[in-house]
Amino acid sequence: MNRYLFILGSSVGKKLLMAVTGLGLIGFLAVHLLGNVMAFAGAEAFNGYAAKLHSLQPYLTVFNIGLATLGLVHIVVGTILFFENLKARPTRYKMYQNPGGRTIGSYTMPYTGVLILLFVIFHLFKFTFVDKTVAPIYQQMSATFANPLWVLMYVVAMVIVALHISHGFWSLFQTCGVNHPRYMPLIMALGLVVTFAFGIGFGILPIYLWLIA
Ligand code: HEM
Repeated sequence: MNRYLFILGSSVGKKLLMAVTGLGLIGFLAVHLLGNVMAFAGAEAFNGYAAKLHSLQPYLTVFNIGLATLGLVHIVVGTILFFENLKARPTRYKMYQNPGGRTIGSYTMPYTGVLILLFVIFHLFKFTFVDKTVAPIYQQMSATFANPLWVLMYVVAMVIVALHISHGFWSLFQTCGVNHPRYMPLIMALGLVVTFAFGIGFGILPIYLWLIA
């Protein structure tokens, strides 16, 4: 037990925790994105999907506890790593070095992380902790995105999410030791596909709902 705690407390252990929790969060985003696609099929399809999801309540609660734990570990360990790197300047320099070069995604990591946390808190109060008996969730989304300011705010937030994922995805492979020069072009291409899939996939829905409002 002590040995495991020692490994998790080490620098490599913390990076591993970031990779595992990051992968879990990317998995959640992929499922969320698939759910959002239902909105393109119209109100009935999306509200039906949301009702089905909520009918699985006991499982949904377990899922949400798991998701919150992943998020919390990712934030706490990320914050510890950030301050450790601030203290040890040479390590900090090294952290932002990768064979792919210093990218906007890599050096904005802590800031995009904080902004995503703020977005998620805000987003939960906008769409999750709301009275759904007032209007079904599709209608609440349509009413929100009929306002171009909401659309702009969500699109900017999705650019930030995409930026964070662009480096996180890359970093995940580095941590797991998959950094052979032979695989680099493939990992970089995959990273680009994932970044654009999330950025455009999420960002397009508010624009679509605004256009059809
Ligand atoms: C344009 C983009 C997005 C839209 C339109 C959207 C829409 C929604 C809606 C309507 C719900 C409530 C579903 C329900 O309770 O029936 C929801 C829940 C949620 N969203 Fe999003 N979302 C977007 C992007 C994101 C992103 C990028 C994240 C994370 C970074 C995120 C995190 C969450 C979380 C954590 C929940 C609560 C999940 C649960 O209760 O099980 N969303 N979203």
